[in-house]
Amino acid sequence: MKFIYMPLLTALLLFISTIGFAQSSFLIDKDVAMFYPSNFDSIKNLPSFILLEEPTKMGDLPENWSVIPEFYKEDGKSCAKIVCENGTSLYGTGEVTGPLLRNGQTTELWNCDNPAYGLFDGKRLYQSHPWVMGVRKDGTSFGLIFDNTYRQTITTNQTITVKSDGPEFRVIVIEKTTPAEVLQELAELSGNMPLPPMWSLGYHQCRFSYEPDSRVKEVADGFRSRDLPCDVMWMDIDYMDKYKVFTFDPVKFPDPKGLNDYLHDKGFKAIYMIDPGVAYDSTYHDQNLKESFYFVYKQGADGKHFVTTKSGEEFHGNVWPGACAFPDFLSPDTREWWASLYKDFMATGIDGVWNDMNEPSVFGGPEGTMPVEMIHKAGGGVPEDTHARYHNVYGMHMIKGTREGIMDANPDKRPFVLSRSNFLGGHRYAATWTGDNMASWEHLKMSIPMSINLGLSGQLFSGPDVGGFCESATPELFAHWFALGTFYPFYRGHTIKGSVDHEPWSFCPEVENVARKSLHRRYRLLPYLYTANYVGSKTGMPIMQPAFFADLEDQSLRDEDEAFLFGSDLLIIPKWADNPSLPKGNWRSISICGEDSKNDQYLPDVRMKPGSIVPLSKIIQSTDEYSTDSITVLISTDLEGKALGQMYNDDLDDYQYLEDGYSITTFKANTKKDRLNISIEKTEGSYSIKNTVYRIGIVTDNSIVYNDWSDKTSYTFKNISEIMEGN
Ligand code: NOJ
Repeated sequence: MKFIYMPLLTALLLFISTIGFAQSSFLIDKDVAMFYPSNFDSIKNLPSFILLEEPTKMGDLPENWSVIPEFYKEDGKSCAKIVCENGTSLYGTGEVTGPLLRNGQTTELWNCDNPAYGLFDGKRLYQSHPWVMGVRKDGTSFGLIFDNTYRQTITTNQTITVKSDGPEFRVIVIEKTTPAEVLQELAELSGNMPLPPMWSLGYHQCRFSYEPDSRVKEVADGFRSRDLPCDVMWMDIDYMDKYKVFTFDPVKFPDPKGLNDYLHDKGFKAIYMIDPGVAYDSTYHDQNLKESFYFVYKQGADGKHFVTTKSGEEFHGNVWPGACAFPDFLSPDTREWWASLYKDFMATGIDGVWNDMNEPSVFGGPEGTMPVEMIHKAGGGVPEDTHARYHNVYGMHMIKGTREGIMDANPDKRPFVLSRSNFLGGHRYAATWTGDNMASWEHLKMSIPMSINLGLSGQLFSGPDVGGFCESATPELFAHWFALGTFYPFYRGHTIKGSVDHEPWSFCPEVENVARKSLHRRYRLLPYLYTANYVGSKTGMPIMQPAFFADLEDQSLRDEDEAFLFGSDLLIIPKWADNPSLPKGNWRSISICGEDSKNDQYLPDVRMKPGSIVPLSKIIQSTDEYSTDSITVLISTDLEGKALGQMYNDDLDDYQYLEDGYSITTFKANTKKDRLNISIEKTEGSYSIKNTVYRIGIVTDNSIVYNDWSDKTSYTFKNISEIMEGN
């Protein structure tokens, strides 16, 4: 499939819309079919914001094609239904509360600010993913993209039903032999997750808000003086001057460059929040006060960059600064302007950007957002239309502009953007967190299926606010949550204004100790985690995977939402898990930093897949110190005495890896005549990883037997059966 130039695409769409569509279906790729309803209107539906490019017909639908959507109208809504084979397990639909297994659930797609998930019965949150993945009893799988942006509900029963407020929409069906293949196809159609910079895989510390700047420094120092590894300090809205985006409070944050330099010197990165609402500045309209207005509002108003009412006036709605105007991010000109704002901002030494409130949240607005009749001028092949059509992709287009802006500002560095709102496919622009959760056991538990279902919907890089955002965590809850946090793709502590302190040392020495061990585990696992991210960025394979990925035929794993996989080789069992279903086979418990994985009161038990090899690095205070000069490889053999593993490496934060500046090291273990032979080989890339000192850890049922292995490309353990038996 080739990318079609936008003006050409618009002309083509205009032409197609004049001839209309009969209900039709055809293949757009191997095992991928597109289904059109009879009254499909391209102007009202296209371009797709999910697909990277407009697909073309590749062939006819095979006669034995089984997943066939049926289109119909009901109560004025455009609907599609798909009947699933008995026993099909359903997943996806993005950011959702409730269980991992979505059978019997209804999800509403209308992005909203949902504090504590307390509104709308928690059935709709900050993001929309019109996507369902089905896994049949035998493990064969399919994926469904409902290619529309409008408000809609998805009911995931044996008959999957989608009811949209918009015009009739098309459905894409992916049919594969495994869920992994379905996710790979989703990534091919909607874009891969870009490889994140290594530092974003470390621990992040946030609160609403650390202020003034001296408090930010104090918290950062608190990590360093206590041997609590941490990579990032976050600045929530209070760093701004009266909540005006792209400004700094002159009293509380008078010297952002100085603050960021301070953090950088100590091995921290700095992330700052930017919201979509631009404070409305009435002085701009007063000729006598021309000099004093707020530059962002002036530029936006001059450039006609804001969303308008039907009669062409700027729409204003209240957010933190009071009345705000909202950039029309659907317009490429507006995104370009928005991107340009980041240059000076990032020049103060900012490393990453946090886009919040971008559903958009409007205090007192209908259902907490902008009225649906507001107008987006859009442009560049995207037709002018109302907010009803573009609401669910508003945040997605904001982060598209943000990403472009920070890439222009720092062209040699991989960008990092975190977004609260998003849409299916928007993982190509930003990572996400699951919004304003609660400091409660229910929300701690729910965070696992939430992040897994996001991963099964293309968003691989996610995690909740560790410790819980709303209200204060108890020491017990905080310790358990922090310990679980090691295994989220995105590991960030955050809490609301007015809650008790939520730094790892704020509770008591016991909790601080749990936090230290959890962070040490995370940092030792970095080579493994970075490799999983690399694999994810190539294949769409999630970092946090459901337990059933270990055995597609074991039906008892299909609804397991406490135990889960971190990467493909580690099984994570929280200590509070209540009789979880675990994959069969000898998954052996491992100690990562000397902890007792099986018996520790808080730290989840970590078990290695039989037949896997996991690389670990040293404990460091931040990824500034990351190096592969000393790697421990843990080997857990399968029944045949074999194991396999890989380690990805590169420059950690730039683009050299796209030009061969990376390496993949493959570790193999094989047992023959009671000897375990281990080999190490660079199998891909030209990135140099010389001088690594390896330590081998043979994982047995009760312990890990270590041996140093310097400067060798192969190693043999004799009498391996005795070692395995603990003799
Ligand atoms: C809402 C976000 O969800 C939260 O994380 C943040 O702290 C507040 N906005 C304040 O910016």
